[in-house]
Amino acid sequence: MLLWNNLLSILNAIVYSVENMDGFEENLLQDDASGAMNTTILANLSRVHHYGNIDNSIVSAIDYGSASDCPKSAKYGTGPPESCTQPSDPNNLPPSELESWFTKAMFEDLFPFANLGWGSSSCWPYSYEAFVIASRYFPEFGTSVNVSNTVYTAEENKKRDLAAFFAHAIQETGENNIALYDTLADQKASNCFYRGGFYNWFEGGPTSSFLDPKTPGYQPADGASCASAGQYCSASSQITYFYPCSNETVNNTAAPYKGCYFGRGAIQISYNYNYGQFQDWLKTVGISVDLLNEPNLVMTKMDPPLAVMASLWFYMTPQPPKPAMHDIVMGNWNSGAKNKAAGYDGPIFGPTSLIINNECSGEDATNPGGPGESRRIKAFKWFCGYFDAPPGPDDTLSCKNMPVPLDQIFYNLSYQPDWSSTWKEVPCTCAPASYGGLIFYFDPDYYPESFVAQNEHNKMKCIASIYANPSMYSLDNKTSPCLNY
Ligand SMILES: *[C@@H]1O[C@H](CO)[C@@H](O)[C@H](O)[C@H]1NC(C)=O
Ligand SMILES: *[C@@H]1O[C@H](CO)[C@@H](O)[C@H](O)[C@H]1NC(C)=O
Ligand SMILES: *[C@@H]1O[C@H](CO)[C@@H](O)[C@H](O)[C@H]1NC(C)=O
Ligand SMILES: *[C@@H]1O[C@H](CO)[C@@H](O)[C@H](O)[C@H]1NC(C)=O
Ligand SMILES: *[C@@H]1O[C@H](CO)[C@@H](O)[C@H](O)[C@H]1NC(C)=O
Ligand SMILES: *[C@@H]1O[C@H](CO)[C@@H](O)[C@H](O)[C@H]1NC(C)=O
Ligand SMILES: *[C@@H]1O[C@H](CO)[C@@H](O)[C@H](O)[C@H]1NC(C)=O
Repeated sequence: MLLWNNLLSILNAIVYSVENMDGFEENLLQDDASGAMNTTILANLSRVHHYGNIDNSIVSAIDYGSASDCPKSAKYGTGPPESCTQPSDPNNLPPSELESWFTKAMFEDLFPFANLGWGSSSCWPYSYEAFVIASRYFPEFGTSVNVSNTVYTAEENKKRDLAAFFAHAIQETGENNIALYDTLADQKASNCFYRGGFYNWFEGGPTSSFLDPKTPGYQPADGASCASAGQYCSASSQITYFYPCSNETVNNTAAPYKGCYFGRGAIQISYNYNYGQFQDWLKTVGISVDLLNEPNLVMTKMDPPLAVMASLWFYMTPQPPKPAMHDIVMGNWNSGAKNKAAGYDGPIFGPTSLIINNECSGEDATNPGGPGESRRIKAFKWFCGYFDAPPGPDDTLSCKNMPVPLDQIFYNLSYQPDWSSTWKEVPCTCAPASYGGLIFYFDPDYYPESFVAQNEHNKMKCIASIYANPSMYSLDNKTSPCLNY
């Protein structure tokens, strides 16, 4: 995700202006007691799913095939090690409801070419084991917890949530092998194309130009240092205060820098402020990890495994003015009167592409079509079909016709110094402001309660930052006497 282009422009503005599966398949897909795949069953996965529209009045049969129907993908490097430290959870969180319906066999049928073509491996970033540990940290992901929309059933909502996450993962890090459409019929090609997810680890693919050509990304550890193009360090006085880039170097002329914030993981978190915010969130769940100095831990850390977790964190977390993608797909968002009148309301997919990469160009008429929003939409429809859940009406699958973009809905977005009192002989304080910043204000009219509950903490963080580094807010003790209190 080259996301957050928006945040940058907002911050610059501040600086310069001071301003169903039916029961049949569910049972078929259960793992055996050992957790290993039942290969007899897996070989028989030519599933016929019911692909319904929103009111399920039209049902047409589409065969979603199975992983074994797909030609082998390209592989890079020498594959995963024979043994390794397995992914684990230091918090021993309980299984999520997701695990009761989304099985290891399903994961492996859906992502046969994960990890540079080698397939799911618990020694590497992408595996069912890592995926479920990550999902335990987000008990609302792919479950019926706190879903209140009545447009879809609880089953449908769970499936749509996973379908949306996987759809973005396809565009961000899928193999995206369009050559499949040259040799296979359309539906068969799609059945393999959309099984190409979780292929890439690093931005730039299996041989990333950011890395040392001798270790171009065939092992997760290869991302530990990079050439200058991979630094992705965003600097402003505020960003540098909260999320400083590492200046450290290593003795490697091809890849000398350690502060490398290029895209990593399923939906590619990138830039120091996203790594930093993920690090802040990890601290709130008791995990201390210095991602600003060691960003490659996103790919190598296994206790807990971070590669999927970083992407789930991004999918599940609002960053005002952007709601969480999850909350849009579940309908837990307030799109404003104009958008509501135009049907952009409730549990829809369209605006999620706006959030991840500002893409709203709609769906191409033919397959495979181009990258961008078109591919996200087609992938969402494919995964919904696979899971037998309705994708929803066509017009809201894209954000193309959404009247008011998310960043033009007016409400308070961040905590900033309370300019109405900085000149007074009273302690400095912070107040919600209508522009973006690094310390979020979650307006109760726009964000779920669990985020609104963070406001008081965020306000204190803002106040502390005024005293610690007044100049980044253009405050000094002559013109802003509040600093003397
Ligand atoms: C796999 O599934 C088949 C069909 O349900 C069953 O007969 C067989 O016992 C299963 N194998 C294992 C190892 O569980
Ligand atoms: C394979 O699936 C068909 C239905 O599609 C079913 O009749 C058959 O019993 C299945 N075979 C096994 C081994 O599960
Ligand atoms: C990195 O270097 C710049 C200037 O060389 C310095 O201002 C900054 O404090 C350094 N950052 C860290 C984290 O050491
Ligand atoms: C840096 O690496 C080169 C080549 O590997 C080696 O010859 C040199 O001694 C190293 N320098 C230091 C300071 O470690
Ligand atoms: C934004 O915050 C200001 C001051 O805290 C408040 O007066 C105003 O009503 C808020 N506006 C919105 C749209 O929430
Ligand atoms: C469900 O929502 C409530 C109210 O916002 C919140 O306190 C709770 O943490 C949420 N549950 C989960 C598992 O996130
Ligand atoms: C005001 O700020 C200046 C420069 O940062 C500092 O030297 C001075 O001690 C401060 N005065 C007070 C009263 O804190």
